[in-house]
Order: sequence, then structure tokens, then C-alpha cells
Amino acid sequence: MTVLLDADTVLARHQAAFECAPDVPARRELDPAGPVTVGPLAAVSGRDEYVPLTDGATVRYANLDYAASAPALDAVTAAVTAALSEYASVHRGAGYLSQRSTARYEGARATVAEFVGARDDDHVIFTGNTTDSLNLLAGCVPGDVVVLDVEHHANLLPWRRRGARVVCAPLSVGGTLAAVEAELARRPAALLSVTGASNVTGEVLPIRRLAALAHRYGARICVDGAQLVPHRRISLRESGIDYLAFSGHKLYAPFGAGVLVGRADWLDDADPYRYGGGATYEVIGRPVARDVEVAWHTGPARHEAGSPNVLGAVAIAAACTELTRLGETAIAEHERFLVELLLAGLAGIDGVTPLRIWVDSDDRVGIVAFAVDGVAPREVAEYLSAEHGIGVRDGKFCAHPIVSRLGVPDGAVRASIGLGTTESDVRRLLDAVAHLVSGRGRGSKQR
Ligand SMILES: Cc1ncc(COP(=O)(O)O)c(C=O)c1O
Repeated sequence: MTVLLDADTVLARHQAAFECAPDVPARRELDPAGPVTVGPLAAVSGRDEYVPLTDGATVRYANLDYAASAPALDAVTAAVTAALSEYASVHRGAGYLSQRSTARYEGARATVAEFVGARDDDHVIFTGNTTDSLNLLAGCVPGDVVVLDVEHHANLLPWRRRGARVVCAPLSVGGTLAAVEAELARRPAALLSVTGASNVTGEVLPIRRLAALAHRYGARICVDGAQLVPHRRISLRESGIDYLAFSGHKLYAPFGAGVLVGRADWLDDADPYRYGGGATYEVIGRPVARDVEVAWHTGPARHEAGSPNVLGAVAIAAACTELTRLGETAIAEHERFLVELLLAGLAGIDGVTPLRIWVDSDDRVGIVAFAVDGVAPREVAEYLSAEHGIGVRDGKFCAHPIVSRLGVPDGAVRASIGLGTTESDVRRLLDAVAHLVSGRGRGSKQR
């Protein structure tokens, strides 16, 4: 029987092991003995963190959970530190530091616009995260919305709440395009909203073809770029994407800030996302009627009521600048090597099945989800953490419909990579999984 441990129990075991065995060697090197050639492409926070194992040793943390939240780039940390030293109010002060903060915030907007190839008249709105961006847009769309059932809940539920039509994606890219086309032809829609890359399998959808398809049927397209933007350079102008949503914390910036970029008209015509200061152009009190009349701003300010997250915006812009400096090709090559190593290694382990949605998809970002025969995903993840110091995600990844459809009702284990990932991290994971299924790992079942 599979035994699931809750997070508190795992933590308690870690701590107990750590406290009870103070004399064991402080650090264990789990890096493979053979030649390891690929190091990190960029310096990220936490790269030299040592974490406790159940036997009391410590080991360098192998972070293979970038798709959940990527560690901050050192370049981001530096930019945020610099901004903090001159921190003051934004958009509301004549003081010198207020002006500096405002310039940083608006400069961040311009950097993000350039990074995603925004059209001149697109709005760049700073939000809390991708979920926030999509909820905001959901309140602005003047008509029907079509979505796929492969989506993260963030790109499913805000639309469903407004009665979106959900298309069941056939398990081939060609079939999925045909199913979308059939739905758009059946009844007009204002918007097609699709993920750029699946957060479950990392598979990338053909966005340009989907954009052309949507436009042919008079719809716009929104791309949930949470998993695509950290890995691929996107240009709204060149791809035909009308709206793009993404999160800072998956783009090597800390939590708390995200972006919605896209066409101005729907955004300017809609009710403000939040009511409050900053979004208002003028508020006229009418004391007798005990009411006020409000004239709202157009532009990004309309949907950014309240004091903005200037540090979050600065962090995202710094990440965009650093990704540009590193270069699209270098990033793609780094990730391709590691993901191919991961896939080839997992394919060689008996009883391990990587998940795929589309049999014919030929592009994927650095995300691989897999099931281990006879071992619950949570148990695999706990074993990897407790005995090998490896962080992965397990479960259904906030994408319950597609995970159920893939035949893994309990979910799977997801390893994901990024700029700080090394060949050694990937080889450690492969060794640990092989060890588990061979029956030598703590969590393994007799096979
Ligand atoms: C594809 C996708 N969309 C949306 C989200 C939601 O992102 P956030 O939690 O930053 O709002 C995620 C998060 O994992 C995701 O992977």
C-alpha cells in the first residue's frame, strides 16, 4: 500500500534526522562521478543551497521545479536592490525619489512592451500574476470565448464563469486545430484563449496557426504565456497574438507581479478591474444625492487601481533585459540539451511513463511529467526530496481535466528546468528515479 506523508510530517522527519545525527558528514556530494559538461546558463538565487536529507547529511538542492516558480536571476536581485534604495511613492509625488520610482515603473512597462514585441497601441498592464491577468481580460471580452480542455485552471475557470465554450482537444495537434476550427465555424466567438505551452507536458501549441485560425473566423486570440514566455521569445506583432498573459515568478522574478499585454479597445471600454485611486480621472461628489460620479482613466491605469507593485514591475523588466542579453538561441540550446537528456533517461527506466497530450507535437519547453508504476506521485516527490535533495512538483498541476483524460487520476510527477539547471541536476534525478524503481529506494514498492 502506498503511504502518503503530509508536508508537516516530511518536514518533521527532515528536522528530526538533522537534529539527531549532528556527527554525520555535513555535506554529501551527490553529483555524478562522470564528466558533466553543462552548467547553469545564468546565476540564480538558491543555487548553492544545501538541504537536509533524512539520514542527516546535507546536499546541494537540485531545483527541478522551475515551472511552478523559477528562482530569481541575480540580475533581477540586483535591480530590485537598486530600486529599493530609492524607494518612494509612484505616480503621486513631486519629490525627486517619487519621480525616480515613477520613472522606474513606467520604464519597466516600456521594457516589457519591447520584450514581447507589443504593437505601438497595445496596453501593458501590470497585474498580480497570470491568473489575475486572465481574470482581468475575462471582464473585458465583448462576446463568447472558446477554450481548450488542456488548460491550467487559470485559463479555464475565469472563462467558464462567463459561460465559455470548452473544446475537448483531440490527442493530435492537427486534430486540435480542426476541433477549434469546427467550434469557431459552428458559432462566432469574440476570443479564443489557449495556452502557449502545457504546464503538464511542456508541449508547445502552434500559436501562429491558431492566431490565423481565430482571425479567419473573426475572433481574437489570447495566449496564456505562463509557461511559454520564460522559454521562448514571443512577438505579439509577428505572431498575431492579440493578448498575452504571464507571471513574474515563472520568469525568474519574485512573486507578486504579472502582465497582461494586448489590444487597447476592449481594455479601455471595459469596467475597471478594481475600483479605487489611480484608475480614476475625476470623482465628483454629489453630497445631496449621497453619490459620486466617476470618470475613469483609459490606458493601463484604468485596471491598475491602488498603489502599484513597483518592485514587481522592476523585477519583471530586469528579467526581460537579462533574457534578451542571454539570447534566444543560447536559452533554447541549454534547455533542449537538458530536456532531451531527461526524456532519454526516463525512457530508459522501466516502469516510468512520460506524459504527452499530442502524439504529433514537435516542440516542448523544459517540462516533463511522468508516472511511476505502482508508486503514488506524492510518494515519488517526497522520496526525491527526503533522500536526494531534489525538488519536483507532483499532483494534477491545476489542470484536472487534462490530467484525468491522460489516464493518471492521481496525477504525476513533474520535473521542470530553466536557466539555472545543470546537467548534474538532471542526472541526479534520473539516478534517483532509477534507484526508486529498482526497489532500493525508501518509497519503492516490491516490483
Ligand atoms: C500554464 C499556466 N497558466 C497559468 C498559471 C497560473 O499562474 P499564476 O499562479 O502565476 O497566476 C500557471 C501556473 O502554474 C500555468 O502553468
